[in-house]
Amino acid sequence: MKHVLILGAKSDIAKAIAVEYAIRGYHLILAGREIEELTAFSNQLKMTYDVSVQLKHFDALDCNSHKLFVNELKTKPYGIICCVGYLGDQTLAEKDTDEALKIIQTNYTGCVSVIEQCVPYLEEVNQGFIVGISSVAGDRGRKSNYFYGSAKSGFTAYLSGLRARLKTNNIHVLTVKPGFVATKMTAHLDLPKMLTVSPQYVAKKIFRAQQKRTNVLYVKWIWQYIMCVIKLIPELIFKKMNL
Ligand SMILES: NC(=O)c1ccc[n+]([C@@H]2O[C@H](COP(=O)([O-])OP(=O)(O)OC[C@H]3O[C@@H](n4cnc5c(N)ncnc54)[C@H](OP(=O)(O)O)[C@@H]3O)[C@@H](O)[C@H]2O)c1
Repeated sequence: MKHVLILGAKSDIAKAIAVEYAIRGYHLILAGREIEELTAFSNQLKMTYDVSVQLKHFDALDCNSHKLFVNELKTKPYGIICCVGYLGDQTLAEKDTDEALKIIQTNYTGCVSVIEQCVPYLEEVNQGFIVGISSVAGDRGRKSNYFYGSAKSGFTAYLSGLRARLKTNNIHVLTVKPGFVATKMTAHLDLPKMLTVSPQYVAKKIFRAQQKRTNVLYVKWIWQYIMCVIKLIPELIFKKMNL
């Protein structure tokens, strides 16, 4: 059975994705910071679904380590799912460049850097998939979260280009735009119930979309229309709106 590498594996969405793939018998490589915290979770996956689970240390911000990280993988994964993300503090980032750069580097540079290390071996075997979790925040820059939004926008553009590049190699690239998800990232926010989904809901949608080789997934369909309207608002009006 095939192996799937999940980056940012301690994320609530990542854990739900791990379950979706384990249920279908995929072996897992779970990668993240302080990954030992997933020992109990990985033991549970092994026992319940009879799959192998490896835990690997991975820091998206340490780009110099990414080549070694990929080279050291005992089994080269068939699929790579990037769940790394950092919402950060927009107000702080406006005053503190370190916070601004952390948001940009976590959500863009770090994700691109590690995926780029995986691409050559996927090209060699001419098969596999890459799933990148981006965000609807990347569809238009808003004053309330434009550092995060611009990094996700860059990541969306990167995935789009990569998809076109790898098409001839039979490697599929899926861009995921989740909308609001109830996770530890958003625990401090008062999210509208109607537009908010669970990590399990997202994981099921991602598995299905990856299998169907969907290009771009708006997890809740309505987000596609919301963002379409938001993108159509003229800049002259948009800059006066409190979004
Ligand atoms: N929740 C939402 O409403 C929402 C909406 C749109 C998009 N998303 C995206 O969905 C993905 C998963 O987010 P989530 O909601 O499940 O939130 P989450 O639980 O906070 O997950 C974010 C994950 O990224 C990891 N991460 C952050 N910086 C890292 C670094 N330098 N190196 C390695 N890993 C790092 C975190 O690791 P630690 O556990 O070590 O901190 C955490 O596991 C993210 O890409 C996020 O941007 C979420």
